[in-house]
Amino acid sequence: MKINYVNDISVEDYNALRVAVGWAEVEKTQVKIGIDNSAFLIAAVSEGQTIGTARVISDGGYMALIVDIMVLPAFQGKGVGKELMGRCMDIRGNLTDGQSVFINLMAASGKEPFYAKFGFDTRPNENAGAGMTQYLCCCDGKVSKQAIRQEHDKD
Ligand SMILES: CC(C)(COP(=O)(O)OP(=O)(O)OC[C@H]1O[C@@H](n2cnc3c(N)ncnc32)[C@H](O)[C@@H]1OP(=O)(O)O)[C@@H](O)C(=O)NCCC(=O)NCCS
Repeated sequence: MKINYVNDISVEDYNALRVAVGWAEVEKTQVKIGIDNSAFLIAAVSEGQTIGTARVISDGGYMALIVDIMVLPAFQGKGVGKELMGRCMDIRGNLTDGQSVFINLMAASGKEPFYAKFGFDTRPNENAGAGMTQYLCCCDGKVSKQAIRQEHDKD
């Protein structure tokens, strides 16, 4: 299987991947802004089809967040996710003495072992509390808190 890795993805392909892994689509304008403003974005392409993606949000200095790692179900278990993650991890750059980088991510339920392979620690642990998130949606002009949609949840 020949796979090319490119640094761009269309709004349509991004949302198609989300749907394929059981996540809700994101409003198109927000997707476009997110793609354009990612510090790093990688997409895996096989025979013209976008089969996976991942991206990094970063302040360019010390703080980074890896998000949206997705591989089409038919292509999972073939090392594509590992390649995408490995390329995202390059965001750490060449640290020199006295420098540090704090790489964050929110693992979907059950995906912790995948990320542990890259050195990530599950929280909470003896040194750190649980990560916390808040998911807000606007519906009928009203912004309200929603439950986080887990993998394969349906709208
Ligand atoms: C999580 C995901 C990106 C992994 O991608 P993938 O291409 O299937 O993973 P790979 O084939 O590259 O696997 C890399 C390694 O992680 C392991 N691995 C993958 N998924 C795993 C899981 N859920 N639990 C434990 N180990 C896992 C593989 O066995 C492999 O191990 P190895 O290097 O020792 O052989 C993919 O399953 C996916 O897109 N899932 C749906 C979307 C999702 O939940 N994304 C994560 C959001 S936080």
